[in-house]
Amino acid sequence: MIYIIIIIVLFPIFVQADQNNEMTVLSFFSAKGGTGKTTFNMLFASFLQYKLGKKVLVLDFDRPEYNFSYTRKREIAILDNEGKDYDTNNFYPVEEVEVLNESGIIKIADMMKDVSGEVDYIIMDFPGSFSESDAVCILAMKQTIDIIIIPVELDGMNIASSKALAQIFHECGQKTLLFFNRVHGKEKPELYEELREWFEENSIAISSNRIRNTLSMKREMGNTGYLRSTTCFPEKVIKEKNPGILNLFNEIVGYEEREMEQKSRLVD
Ligand SMILES: Nc1ncnc2c1ncn2[C@@H]1O[C@H](COP(=O)(O)OP(=O)(O)OP(=O)(O)O)[C@@H](O)[C@H]1O
Ligand SMILES: [Mg+2]
Repeated sequence: MIYIIIIIVLFPIFVQADQNNEMTVLSFFSAKGGTGKTTFNMLFASFLQYKLGKKVLVLDFDRPEYNFSYTRKREIAILDNEGKDYDTNNFYPVEEVEVLNESGIIKIADMMKDVSGEVDYIIMDFPGSFSESDAVCILAMKQTIDIIIIPVELDGMNIASSKALAQIFHECGQKTLLFFNRVHGKEKPELYEELREWFEENSIAISSNRIRNTLSMKREMGNTGYLRSTTCFPEKVIKEKNPGILNLFNEIVGYEEREMEQKSRLVD
């Protein structure tokens, strides 16, 4: 069932994907709830497709809430209500994935390999839990995900659990990048720098781009000055309200492009 859905959705975008590049699979993920996983997966998917012109596919594993998919449906309803003109073919597909067992997850991993080169990016939104039977864990073990990007907050317990999570991922060969989210203006910048060094001493890559805690991060279509969207990338608002987001996203894209170049040089 899951195959059928994904094959149907992928078919029209096969033709348009950037054939020069390999596909990148990534997820903003952490083992805790409410850390910004969906917000960043959404912003990054919209950045890639609407700002950079990449072909994106989103797989929403976060059942039963399916926040990502729900936001898309809500946006479409708002566009309809407002009588706006739009073409759904211009929006990246957001697929609700209902995975109940390990073999189903492994089949999804195999299928993702099959579509490599047809889609530029697959972005996966997972629930905030981490056990052996969770899709994120199985997919990481199968080396299916190129990079997992972990939001970290300046909080002792959050820092400790992010470090532990990154170390577990490394043990199974999964690449990660951490970044500080919800940065208030009050903390000393040196503290962040010290923590960044501490992570790096422990071989954990962490971005120097920090994301501020701003109310605008909660705004969606229907609110004024919205920032989160699955149907556009509101660059102007993002630049005004939280420009660190653009720097982080450009860093991630650059990072992945360099990795691909290295891989293709090794193949040559
Ligand atoms: N930098 C930020 N500044 C302000 N609010 C933020 C920031 N990052 C995330 N948030 C807010 O935190 C809340 C939780 O975010 P989100 O739903 O993306 O987290 P999640 O990790 O996907 O949660 P869940 O585990 O429930 O799926 C949202 O209201 C979001 O707008
Ligand atoms: Mg979420």
